Amino acid sequence: MARYEDVFENNRKWVERNIDRDPEFFSRLATHQDPDLLFIGCADSRVPPNEIMGLYPGDVFVHRNIANLVVSTDINAQSVIEYAVGQLDVKHIIVCGHYGCGGVAAAMQPADLGLLNGWLREIRDVYRLYQEELDAIEDTDARYRRLVELNIQEQCVNVIKTAVVQKTYVRTGHPTVHGWVYDVSNGLLRDLEIPFGEILGNIQEIYRLEET
Ligand code: CO
Repeated sequence: MARYEDVFENNRKWVERNIDRDPEFFSRLATHQDPDLLFIGCADSRVPPNEIMGLYPGDVFVHRNIANLVVSTDINAQSVIEYAVGQLDVKHIIVCGHYGCGGVAAAMQPADLGLLNGWLREIRDVYRLYQEELDAIEDTDARYRRLVELNIQEQCVNVIKTAVVQKTYVRTGHPTVHGWVYDVSNGLLRDLEIPFGEILGNIQEIYRLEET
């Protein structure tokens, strides 16, 4: 476990390594950012976005919260999407959940979790949407893993529901929305290959926000 006292020493070594690799690295980043990716992930300490993707500062715009939720009334997540798509013009939006997610596990328990109840209800809503499929899975761990995946899929749908994503996609052909799952037990990322175009077509019957 990292000690608080080690952090600044680690930081200085990290700066040196980056300058050795690329002397202009920090001076180039000082003036602007131009990331191609928006990563929406869980706040879990075991899922550090840049590290698991092997990316450097400047490569990815990041938003994290408990259980990687995209809620329409959450001004934080909505502002991140608005800025990343509208201003930074990201080409890909990734919703990345993970097996072993404490938020998803908590939502499967019948317990009063205080302030977290409202947040985790979003995951319970996903369960209700897929209750038949999930209840049919007898193994508790398999059911939990499937809910992690379905939650990722539904949060992708929530990203696609936003006006800025719909409008920008129609105008430019991007961003594309992807659902990934990370396995904390082996470090591997997997693309759930959520059919973006199909979902966009289906939800536009109800959620269409741009004029044709
Ligand atoms: Co989590």
